[in-house]
Amino acid sequence: MSNRLEAVVADIVEGIRGALMKHDVTFDEYRQGIGYIMKTVEAGELPLMIDAFLNTTICQIENRNFGGSTSTLEGPYFLDDAPFVEGALKTYEDDRHEPLLLRGRVLDLAGAPVADAIIDVWHSTPDGHYGGFHNNIPRDFYRGKLRTDAAGGYEVRTTVPVAYKIPDQGPVGALLEAMGRHSWRPAHVHYKVRAPGFHTLTTQAYFEGGEYVDSDCCEGVHSELIHADVRESGIKVIETDFELAPALAHAAAAA
Ligand code: DHB
Ligand code: FE
Repeated sequence: MSNRLEAVVADIVEGIRGALMKHDVTFDEYRQGIGYIMKTVEAGELPLMIDAFLNTTICQIENRNFGGSTSTLEGPYFLDDAPFVEGALKTYEDDRHEPLLLRGRVLDLAGAPVADAIIDVWHSTPDGHYGGFHNNIPRDFYRGKLRTDAAGGYEVRTTVPVAYKIPDQGPVGALLEAMGRHSWRPAHVHYKVRAPGFHTLTTQAYFEGGEYVDSDCCEGVHSELIHADVRESGIKVIETDFELAPALAHAAAAA
């Protein structure tokens, strides 16, 4: 029987060795790298660092193995106990809240509607904050669950999110800056789409022309997830159909 752990770890080590060799990394630099990792652990930012560099790769593997709509980062702000909502997500209301309509359909790979799919939607405030995580915003604000109708359709009103800066005051921000990168993610709406018998789809929608769409610090943007500026009666609309792959596609492919 093959030892998957041994195989994966050995290849990770080989990949790192290749990079060290390629760049003639010195003993001094090697010790600095260890010091940096220690600082990152002490700051509690190891998950952030690994997610910023590698989570998108795991999503790419999902995309390769499952098919259906393109998946991308879940990020740290999904809450599984978000309430079902009808019509609109709960949001604050002031001039800085621009209305946004989200709608579309959930379909199987043959294009047939998937009724009773559950779609979690979540996104930032106009300040780049998330409900339940930042500034005492209630945990059921700017998030909620939708259920698709008989035609696989969903529709919900909410507000336009903004670009979001991942925590940049600690070692991860310092590393990105030293590399000549920034800590911004482009404005996005998160979705998690679930239905019995289908592989769960976790994805995001981005806005065409939005700041940082071409330089997401977490590299989670895919061109097919970028939406043109569509307006109906002046209101911004993101229309997205989600194609779900069958739950067993991966197991079947691997068999
Ligand atoms: C992070 C935040 C997000 O909103 C997201 O979509 C992905 C990552 C973060 O802070 O790491
Ligand atoms: Fe996010």
